[in-house]
Amino acid sequence: MQSFLGHAMKAALLFAAIFSASAHADDALYREFGEKPGLAKIVDDLYDNVLADPRTQPYFEDAPIKRIKQKLVEQFCVLLDGPCEYTGRTMKRTHEGQNIDRAAFNALVEDLQKAMDKNGVPFHSQNKLLAKLAPMYRDVQDRE
Ligand code: HEM
Repeated sequence: MQSFLGHAMKAALLFAAIFSASAHADDALYREFGEKPGLAKIVDDLYDNVLADPRTQPYFEDAPIKRIKQKLVEQFCVLLDGPCEYTGRTMKRTHEGQNIDRAAFNALVEDLQKAMDKNGVPFHSQNKLLAKLAPMYRDVQDRE
């Protein structure tokens, strides 16, 4: 019995060690963005940029700022393999009927790049996030 418990304990410790090692390695990108506080700053700056940008500002006139920021932080965190859960609506459901085209989408991406630059996110890490966002165009756009 003692030896069975001993084995079980060792197995559990081994599992925990492997799991925490892989969790640690996988969240490297998330850490490059400064984890939750870094993401919150980037999303704040992104929002300031889209409101100051005549190409995106009209879309956000009556938008629920607090909710969008919170959901964006969750979503970016998940995309960066951070320890988060996205609790917002699907991209299709959220954006349909907003008349978003390629120009507006590209403008928002530029606003995000500025926010990442300002917060010192390394260029190769910026590109990793952008590569994950790019295919979402399919669900965000209403027209070309
Ligand atoms: C990859 C690009 C984009 C991502 C990842 C994204 C993500 C999000 C998220 C997570 C929300 C909140 C979802 C929720 O309420 O549950 C949201 C809302 C919103 N997004 Fe985007 N978005 C993108 C592109 C755009 C673009 C290009 C525009 C317009 C220029 C835009 C305008 C809005 C607006 C106005 C809302 C608020 C909708 C409402 O609640 O009435 N988004 N977006």
